[in-house]
Amino acid sequence: MDSQEKIKQLIELREKAKMGGGEKRIASQHSKGKLTARERIDILLDEGSFEEFDMFVTHRTDDFDLKDKKYLSDGVVTGHGTIDGRVVYVFAQDFTVFGGSLSETFASKICKVMDQAMKVGAPVIGINDSGGARIQEGVRSLAGYSEIFERNILASGVIPQISAIFGPCAGGAVYSPALTDFIIMSEHSSYMFVTGPKVTKTVTGEDISTEDLGGARIHSTRSGVAQFVVEDEEEGLLLIRKLLSYLPQNNLEDPPLTDCDDPIDRLEDVLNILIPENPNHAYNVRDVIYKIVDNEEFLEVHSNFAKNIVVGFAKMGGMSVGIVANQPNFLAGVLDINASRKAARFVRFCDSFNVPLLTLVDVPGFLPGSSQEYGGIIVHGAKLMFAYGEATVPKITVTLRKSYGGAHCVMSSKQLLSDINYAWPSAEIAVMGPRGAIEVLEGKKIAEIEDEEEKANYIAAKEKEYREKFANPYEAARYGYLDDVIEPRNTRFRVIRALRTIATKKDPGPMKKHSNIPL
Ligand code: HXC
Repeated sequence: MDSQEKIKQLIELREKAKMGGGEKRIASQHSKGKLTARERIDILLDEGSFEEFDMFVTHRTDDFDLKDKKYLSDGVVTGHGTIDGRVVYVFAQDFTVFGGSLSETFASKICKVMDQAMKVGAPVIGINDSGGARIQEGVRSLAGYSEIFERNILASGVIPQISAIFGPCAGGAVYSPALTDFIIMSEHSSYMFVTGPKVTKTVTGEDISTEDLGGARIHSTRSGVAQFVVEDEEEGLLLIRKLLSYLPQNNLEDPPLTDCDDPIDRLEDVLNILIPENPNHAYNVRDVIYKIVDNEEFLEVHSNFAKNIVVGFAKMGGMSVGIVANQPNFLAGVLDINASRKAARFVRFCDSFNVPLLTLVDVPGFLPGSSQEYGGIIVHGAKLMFAYGEATVPKITVTLRKSYGGAHCVMSSKQLLSDINYAWPSAEIAVMGPRGAIEVLEGKKIAEIEDEEEKANYIAAKEKEYREKFANPYEAARYGYLDDVIEPRNTRFRVIRALRTIATKKDPGPMKKHSNIPL
């Protein structure tokens, strides 16, 4: 073979690799509304930036009929490229080759990009679409999974890891995405479960569809496994690009500072009239978020799960910020098991990757009841407290309205080492709400009053007295638990100035191997 023939051979091999499992299987993939691995990578990365590794890898199994069935790339496309000019590593499982099932060589390819991403300090994006362990490879496939899991664990908190689920993801295979920072699922074409519908039916008798057991809707609303659900794959891939725009490349860097053309001292008069006069009336805390962040842009995370708390990323004065806000519009913004889990995970993510935290508080307390107690609200609530108390990133808290009891302590209170605590004049900070407090303090006296009108007047007067004493920010401000009471319309400016002031904060904390967060 002369040199020109050798070059021709290379080009032909590359073309062959790019065809994956062949035209028929690509057509079948498209007919399901799914893209191929390479098409997905093309949308994800900056144009022309993808450099592929290990295109010529094939599996090493001769068992069954695999000796004669070899495909270049072996069912996973791996390599690196850029997103907005910043390096990322990527692997995309190719369902057209053995159903994207994982072989020993397939796993080695993923491990190679993960290892290099760790050395370089760049995010890893995994696109999952696979029938799981390659059955013909047996334990070697299981070992391959474990190699990946261990790398996911070591990379956690060092480089951002994002998983897209655009097809099947079942059995132990779910644990790689579960170990990453964010899971994005495509509506109707993806599913995740440890045990599928058939085995579920055999073992438990439960008859349930794939979609109802592990579809995108279930995982984004009920289980909380998926942080994002998207209509189609393109939306999911563009979402990954957006998400990364808020994040640093690794835990030793700060998030990217972007140009900010939105005036930092923009006054929002509407915030001065946002809080309803009646403390029992709700409002949408997103209205506050949109008014104070740059250009009204907020990337909400986990938006369909535990709607009583809102979490997500925004820029303020060009700086990335992670926002956690109680949502009075849903269950009055109460803290329950799911809200605590959701917010705790988000707070820990932000702390791992140097994203400052802004907490907007309007919380009536923890949700009472046996279902919450039996479900372990004590431990789950403690997770959120732990996450806040442990976080060393700049922490700014603004109390908008209610901040009662244990929930007050949890929601980034001064004593959990929040750096700056502001409150609006509408803030109410106390051990409990007026009604509950009067019942405890005056219960016997109230029971003794026989006349109903007299009783109602007595309760109203006592509630008024309590409200005047505690339902304001000045009691907390008097003790220095608040740094200032601010005008709502000026919140954007005050928060950005605070963020800029404390950006260089250092708080190494005590030396330890790791903490024992209440899991
Ligand atoms: C080898 C596999 C495979 C697998 C699919 N294929 N899964 N080959 N090992 N795990 C092959 C099929 O034989 C077929 O090959 C091609 O991929 C496409 O599969 P189809 O069944 O035709 O596609 P579809 O109808 O879309 O169904 C997709 C599927 C189904 C639902 C994923 O293939 C399936 O149930 N596969 C088995 C899933 C499974 O039980 N995996 C093990 C899970 S346990 P041809 O040549 O005909 O095109 C596990 C443990 C991990 O993964 C543990 C980690 C610790």
